[in-house]
Amino acid sequence: MFTKKGIFKGLAWALVVGVVALVAIQFIPVDRSNPPVVAEPNWDSPTTRAYAERACFDCHSNETKWPWYSYVAPISWSVADHVHEGRAKFNLSEWPSGEGDEAAETVQRGEMPLWEYTLIHSEARLSQPELKEFVAGLQKTFGSEEGEEAENRSDRPHAESDDEAGDEAGESDE
Ligand code: HEC
Repeated sequence: MFTKKGIFKGLAWALVVGVVALVAIQFIPVDRSNPPVVAEPNWDSPTTRAYAERACFDCHSNETKWPWYSYVAPISWSVADHVHEGRAKFNLSEWPSGEGDEAAETVQRGEMPLWEYTLIHSEARLSQPELKEFVAGLQKTFGSEEGEEAENRSDRPHAESDDEAGDEAGESDE
């Protein structure tokens, strides 16, 4: 049978074990290295690079700014995972690298930057006009996977095609 005292003792032990475990996992090494910057893409403009620096560099470059919570396990594991995975897919400090042609699309769709990141990093939240400018810059810098497809899609407005105005006559946003 559980007595009040017994339950209290059990809880106290659980707390002690929890604290000891939390302290212990701080000693598991986490790789927070920033390798040297080898080569950057040929940016179409400094503006595009500035946006990327705001919203992408922490996970997709070798210039990661490691925040204080990247020193606190177990959060640090998740942060380091994102950076390592991000760099492996698309590293703006070791160009050419990976899946650049998907960059514009991931931003347009709101997949990148990762939403967890924008919760904390308000500077990575872009306004609609900023987003538009950034996506256009990414397309100019990296091309886009669905370049041709997008031109023919009617369900989505496209920014820069005045060469086939056809059904869009009268519209001028430039
Ligand atoms: C918090 C870290 C983080 C930030 C910030 C971030 N990414 Fe990612 N990115 C990842 C991770 C992790 C992956 C690989 C796993 C995945 O696809 O979800 C990835 C994958 C990608 C890929 C590969 C294609 C794909 O969908 O797998 C592209 C392209 C990309 N990111 C572009 C960007 C761009 C552009 C930005 C800035 C607007 C950005 N990312 C910001 C972590 C990040």
